[in-house]
Amino acid sequence: TAQLNDLAVRAGLKYFGTALREGAVNSDAAYRRILTDKSEFGQLVPENGQKWESIQGSRGSFNYQQGDITANTARSSGQGLRCHTLVWHSQLPNWVASGSWNRDTLTQVIDTHMANVMTHYKGQCYAWDVVNEAINDDGTWRNSVFLRVFGTDYLPLSFNLAKKHDPDTKLYYNDYNLEYNGAKCDRAVEIVNIVQKAGAPIDGVGFQGHLIVGSTPTRAQLNTMLRRFTSLGVEVAYTELDIRHASLPANAQANQRQAQDFANVVGSCLDVQGCIGVTVWSFTDKYSWIPETFPGEGDALIYDRNFNKKAAWTAISSVLAAA
Ligand code: G3I
Repeated sequence: TAQLNDLAVRAGLKYFGTALREGAVNSDAAYRRILTDKSEFGQLVPENGQKWESIQGSRGSFNYQQGDITANTARSSGQGLRCHTLVWHSQLPNWVASGSWNRDTLTQVIDTHMANVMTHYKGQCYAWDVVNEAINDDGTWRNSVFLRVFGTDYLPLSFNLAKKHDPDTKLYYNDYNLEYNGAKCDRAVEIVNIVQKAGAPIDGVGFQGHLIVGSTPTRAQLNTMLRRFTSLGVEVAYTELDIRHASLPANAQANQRQAQDFANVVGSCLDVQGCIGVTVWSFTDKYSWIPETFPGEGDALIYDRNFNKKAAWTAISSVLAAA
């Protein structure tokens, strides 16, 4: 049977991809074998290795060891690379988050970070998540050092600086819980408007897709939500898809529901011209951020802990094959 990336490309998407967990890739051969199968995953994104704290934990000293794990794995397997992330309030070292900056000095800090990181990965990243998670779940602006110093001016500023350092990569805004098409989604539309009105470049919006079994919007609802963005002239993608069970263990019926939810998400991408790909946030239930953050929840992915394909895998392959 055909694998997911091959099916996705045949269906008109650019890729079906996965996040790479840096701590597992060299110690777990079964994980690595599936991860590096480019017919299954056409693109990789580092789960943590390119974040600010990983690369520039202390000012002026740049460390690419963690980020290069994904870049090198992708290159040697003939896979693409998504790059994640530049301006984000989280996994941001204290020297940035708690510094006493003004517009000039913080601009300098962002510029220097982007100059180093984007130059290091130049030519390799299909896209960069330039700004990540700038909105609270209720639709208000998320408090961060960036918002406090610049107000919303940090949005166009970040995209302009990113363009300067890598003119050829796609520049994305990336966030979660946009999928419900509520106040948070309205604000993300406003972000695209703010950046475009300022004359700054923005190429895409990433829908993380950290969803819940049974509460995932329908294919038609997701399709409507995606079109709000493609109508502004940007591309869209699901960038961190996982659909968690709110209680475990999941029975067969719950796994069928999860499979249907995955099919709805992937199907909505197929429905919308300008939706270019889907990335799962790790592929196996063995490795996922969810149990740490939501104790008792999880099993949100498309392979089980023993690397068997779940109903979700089959549902995705069917919806891709039918396109
Ligand atoms: O690096 C240390 C390691 O040295 C130590 O042994 C280990 C023990 O717990 O912790 C390691 O750090 C962890 C890090 O992941 C690397 O594995 C942190 O504790 C942990 O908090 C961190 O979590 C990551 C989280 O982002 C942080 O915000 C998750 O792996 C990662 O999946 C998650 O990804 C985010 C996206 O970047 C943005 N969107 C939401 C998504 C899920 O939260």
